[in-house]
Amino acid sequence: MNKPLVYIARKIPETAFRILESEFELRIHPGDLPPSRAELLAGVRGCSGILSLLSDRIDAEVCDAAGSQLVVVSNFAVGFNNIDLEEMKRRGIAVGNTPDVLTDATADIAVALLLAVSRRVVSARDDVLQGKWRTWEPLGWIGLDLASDSTQAVTKRKRLGIVGMGRIGAAVAQRLQGGWGMEVVYTSRRPRSSLDGGLDAQRVTLDELLTTSDFISLHVPLSAETKHMIGERELGLMKSSAVLINTARGEVIDQQALVTALKQGRIFGAGLDVCDPEPIPSEHPLLQLDNCVLLPHVGSATWQARNAMAERAARNIEAGIQRRPLPFPVQ
Ligand code: DGY
Repeated sequence: MNKPLVYIARKIPETAFRILESEFELRIHPGDLPPSRAELLAGVRGCSGILSLLSDRIDAEVCDAAGSQLVVVSNFAVGFNNIDLEEMKRRGIAVGNTPDVLTDATADIAVALLLAVSRRVVSARDDVLQGKWRTWEPLGWIGLDLASDSTQAVTKRKRLGIVGMGRIGAAVAQRLQGGWGMEVVYTSRRPRSSLDGGLDAQRVTLDELLTTSDFISLHVPLSAETKHMIGERELGLMKSSAVLINTARGEVIDQQALVTALKQGRIFGAGLDVCDPEPIPSEHPLLQLDNCVLLPHVGSATWQARNAMAERAARNIEAGIQRRPLPFPVQ
């Protein structure tokens, strides 16, 4: 009997292949770039499982192209905004993702961006590379402190605003409260009765968070509700010294409004691991601004995280095709 066919939309860590190759026939999209739409539609034909990446739109057309034997879509990501969940539900196709295992890696990148923007690490380095470092500059490359100002009579802690207090938001808050003693405020859809890791944090409205925070870090999933949730009005509420960090999805920010705010110095700076579109065109105005640090969506880019993501994605495929509940289902 033929083994069930699994389409894998890109080369991912070997861990996944080792789990899947004995039981399934694997059709792996070659090369380092995502399949084109035509390649994806052709690639999934006859598959029982699709192991997708966040750059692959999985919708009715893909399911039709795959055929009625398709039973599981397993995203190699914690986010799943690339998958039409309603359509999958309607067709009875199980959907899985890779939660938890990239929490620490992504939180580390959020903190790295926060430091890089606050202390102007990238623009200072660019100046060194461009031969603009003439002397030790008492007034050059001045950035922001992360710690409280203990020279004042009343010590004022820096305030961190976490928009979306899920796993990654909490991990960022723990790092910055533990390391720099930051006061933490957050938004979340539901009140959190307790927060992990002894975090001391207060739930506030989005407007209060934006108005009062020194550092703002976005951790909401992308949905119709969160698309452009940070636009001109929200940027206008922020302190002129605020630093905005986004490791969630680019579309959560109205990028045009952000360019304007950064150009006008409405906020101090932005650190983005995600943008809209990805990859960003090399002539994009965000790339001309020295108060913006933009990374190529590397939040989960550590071997520990990527291997664990590969394992979880493969376990979801395995369980889905064997008609067992997925170990990591999308809720
Ligand atoms: C995810 O898993 O959703 C991340 O954005 C990938 O790094």
